[in-house]
Amino acid sequence: MELDRALYTTRAMRRVRPDPIPDAEVAGILDAAVRAPSGGNSQNWRFLTVTDVNVRSRLAPVYREAFAILQETVYKDAWARAQDIGDRSALAVQRSSAWLAENFEQVPLWLFAYSRNDPSGASIYPAVWSAMLAARGKGIGSCLTTILGFFRSEETAAILEVPLDKGWTLNASVSFGYPLGNWGVAPRKPVEEVTFADRWGNPVSWRSHPPSFD
Ligand SMILES: Cc1cc2nc3c(=O)[nH]c(=O)nc-3n(C[C@H](O)[C@H](O)[C@H](O)COP(=O)(O)O)c2cc1C
Repeated sequence: MELDRALYTTRAMRRVRPDPIPDAEVAGILDAAVRAPSGGNSQNWRFLTVTDVNVRSRLAPVYREAFAILQETVYKDAWARAQDIGDRSALAVQRSSAWLAENFEQVPLWLFAYSRNDPSGASIYPAVWSAMLAARGKGIGSCLTTILGFFRSEETAAILEVPLDKGWTLNASVSFGYPLGNWGVAPRKPVEEVTFADRWGNPVSWRSHPPSFD
């Protein structure tokens, strides 16, 4: 797959089929992920792939608890407002993320990304995004989530037998599966609106020409 297509169409693909992802594809996704940069090339990361339905079933209620907290805290006002004003885009994210919570155990692969000794907290994310891009290249959808690490880190670690006392932090839990929906270009604010030139607030002189895909 050409790079632009992968960059533009790697969306949050939460609704996926339960069909397993072959080991060779999982290996390819992870092998691409570990090529990513990390601060000082420290590679202070560990990746846990969860395909075992028993483990997924134990994690599922914990994820649903975390999602309930998210709904009641961070997104409470925003999602209530979206409902009031009929913001279709925000409501779609809400419905889709609720689907992921409700169907956690049906998702065939979950990837848990742990890091330690990384004061920036940033070193893990290039690898996570590379995994998602590599998956896209294989026709596999993914969605990055952070709520387990944020709201239920200890419960998750207990199930996955992660030695938290050794300093490991759960940075991301990423779902993977063959999509139920279609790929499309991610809608975003125009780049000219969110980019400045030379000093804050100064508009850029160029105009972007995003590629179009079928
Ligand atoms: C740091 C981060 C945390 C996220 N957490 C969640 C999450 O907890 N649950 C979820 O369903 N999606 C989560 N997402 C996915 C975003 O909602 C998604 O990337 C965003 O809505 C854009 O979607 P799109 O690329 O399909 O347009 C997260 C994404 C990022 C980058």
